[in-house]
Amino acid sequence: MSNDESLTTTGSGPEERAMESALRPKNLDDFVGQVRVRQQLDLVLQASRIRERTADHVLLSGPPGLGKTTLAMIVAAEMNAPLRISSGPAIQHAGDLAAILSSLSEGEVLFLDEIHRMSRPAEEMLYMAMEDFRVDIIVGKGAGATAIPLELPPFTLVGATTRAGLLPGPLRDRFGFTGHLEFYSTQELELVLRRSAMLMDLAVNSAGFSEIAGRSRGTPRIANRLLRRVRDWALVNGLEQIDARAASAALDMYEVDARGLDRLDRSVLHALCTKFGGGPVGLSTLAIAVGEETETVESVAEPFLVREGLLGRTPRGRIATAAAWDHLGLRMPADAVFAGQLPEDIESPAEAE
Ligand SMILES: Nc1ncnc2c1ncn2[C@@H]1O[C@H](COP(=O)(O)OP(=O)(O)O)[C@@H](O)[C@H]1O
Ligand SMILES: [Mg+2]
Repeated sequence: MSNDESLTTTGSGPEERAMESALRPKNLDDFVGQVRVRQQLDLVLQASRIRERTADHVLLSGPPGLGKTTLAMIVAAEMNAPLRISSGPAIQHAGDLAAILSSLSEGEVLFLDEIHRMSRPAEEMLYMAMEDFRVDIIVGKGAGATAIPLELPPFTLVGATTRAGLLPGPLRDRFGFTGHLEFYSTQELELVLRRSAMLMDLAVNSAGFSEIAGRSRGTPRIANRLLRRVRDWALVNGLEQIDARAASAALDMYEVDARGLDRLDRSVLHALCTKFGGGPVGLSTLAIAVGEETETVESVAEPFLVREGLLGRTPRGRIATAAAWDHLGLRMPADAVFAGQLPEDIESPAEAE
């Protein structure tokens, strides 16, 4: 199973993207949760409609799978405007960006995904485009090069980033509105699942929804993915209605446990507890113990484990918390280094995100 297809990773593969677009809410009212961001965005859009102007530029930040792309599409739909989609990694030269910008029509919404990965020169061109709706096209090379100014029609930029901290200040400042998406509560994920089940014509009862929601890591993308696996399981087992037992049997089979941990997460925790007495142990040693790349353990497993309060990062290495021992059904030895209270120098889950 590649990372792309793993049940609990937050990125999406090509097959999944097709499915996702079918489940995407098309307007703000159908967008579940994120009440604050939704209200604020609604205000921005309504005001621009009243003023008959294009909406202010919008920056959406937050972890993968929480609805950034969905919101970008909603902005265009709510403004009744065409949508152009590109991404930071696709814009390596200022010329790539100039080509996109110069072909925009008036009022168009330009969605730049992973905007923090745009090249420096393109970024600088974007500053001017966002502020003055103008770009300088450089013609020729060296001493003979000249800048030809080009007027752009007013447009709305919607930028999305998983790493708002990596955006240079001047770029961040040029957005009129920044919405930060948070992980969803279990109740909100149940609503996401209800909506998806309806669209997929699936019969699931309340307990079934809450079982799936509880394993979804606060992430709609994962919730929808788990729902599809549960659907498969129910289909093969000839079940008419999906209840909590069916959902949990299905997801157990896919090795997603009651708290949303997958095989990798559990093997990291298990090694930490059983091979290193709960730590502290260095990241690379831990990675070797579970037969994974350091990078995989650090970027795939750890963020969620830290967020769940199961694993701590300290200057001396990784530690398992009491909750980790408990979750694995293991007894924490009395001499575990961090028995009881977490030490002061532990990184809080918020900082680790
Ligand atoms: N608030 C929401 N309500 C309903 N479905 C959502 C919501 N947020 C995300 N989804 C669903 O989750 C999937 C991933 O959302 P997406 O916008 O692609 O996330 P991101 O761009 O932040 O990675 C989509 O299929 C979408 O339908
Ligand atoms: Mg996206």
